[in-house]
Amino acid sequence: MLKKCKIAVLPGDGIGPEVMNQAYKIIDVLNKKYFLKISCKEFLVGHSALKEYNTVMPLSTIYGCEESNAILFGSIGDYSLKYDYRKNSLEKESLLFIRKKFNLFCNIRHAKLYSSIKDSSPLKKNILDKGIDIVCIRELTGGIYFGNSKIKYDKNMNIEYAFDTERYNKQEVYRIADIAFKIAKKRRKHITSIDKSNVLKSSILWREVVKNVSHNYPEVKLNNLYVDNAVMQIIKNPSSFDVILCSNIFGDIISDECAAIIGSIGMLPSASINENKFGLYEPSGGSAPDIKNLNIANPIAQILSLSMLLKYTMNQIEISKKIDDSVNEALKLGYRTKDIISSSHENYVSTEKMGDIISEILIEKK
Ligand code: IPM
Ligand code: MN
Repeated sequence: MLKKCKIAVLPGDGIGPEVMNQAYKIIDVLNKKYFLKISCKEFLVGHSALKEYNTVMPLSTIYGCEESNAILFGSIGDYSLKYDYRKNSLEKESLLFIRKKFNLFCNIRHAKLYSSIKDSSPLKKNILDKGIDIVCIRELTGGIYFGNSKIKYDKNMNIEYAFDTERYNKQEVYRIADIAFKIAKKRRKHITSIDKSNVLKSSILWREVVKNVSHNYPEVKLNNLYVDNAVMQIIKNPSSFDVILCSNIFGDIISDECAAIIGSIGMLPSASINENKFGLYEPSGGSAPDIKNLNIANPIAQILSLSMLLKYTMNQIEISKKIDDSVNEALKLGYRTKDIISSSHENYVSTEKMGDIISEILIEKK
């Protein structure tokens, strides 16, 4: 268990800085009331770095991350500044760069329906009554987001073309599958592995390796679903899912679907960790530049990401649970940011106010 932790804080663009300010309030409580020694140092990333350093991933930020025990990340991307995606990808050069550099191959996104905000979910009541509690395990440093890709010109055909490559080796699949089985073993012992092995060779390899890993965990039930069928089953019958295991691209898509059905992408935190428990913790949602500085963004995913940092990097399981409980209580008391308000009985609160309320509840916790 770590009492001391050095965090590199990368608020980034869009709503990143304002939701990060609410996580700072929680860190303050953790240091004062729970006697942790969490120290934070901020670094620039994304568009905010581009303005000052002429790069979206300055060296000072990389060094800052290297010297820390964990990274708390906001979000990146802002269309107020032009970026030439044909030449470079802002996301690839910053966030994907960090994921690769620190070997953060394991992404964990826990989509849990808070019963008090059921009304924000687009699903019908009879589906929601059965509950949603899905852990999405996404491979994060391989596959098509890191494979060979180019935009080229075909002289013979006189036309431009482009390609990206989905590629996995057995070891990459093995290590993520093994973590998924370990997590499933401690839960409802059910894994759904997602692929497209009726078409893709990379998925055939994926399915074979997952099957091999499953032999080491006889108590865990393994199901395989094609991705097109999986997205349908998740909408129709989410309570039948426990742990979902996916490749990088399928996990990207499916975790957004999981966020939508629990009510809001502003509620879903994310942990990206390596085998040494070094991790990057970030909301699953984007930078939402259209609502930046309006004090209306939901800070809960950022606060829950901090809670995941306590759980996975600091191994402070109990304190992490106290943060989660405080969020739950704030919602039960009827406090809602704009994205999750659904009836006039609820109290609309701003980003700032939601941060204040959750930290006050955490202060009062026994
Ligand atoms: C996520 C995000 C990123 C991803 C983007 C910003 C590159 O959508 O963390 O899910 O696709 O991995
Ligand atoms: Mn995504």
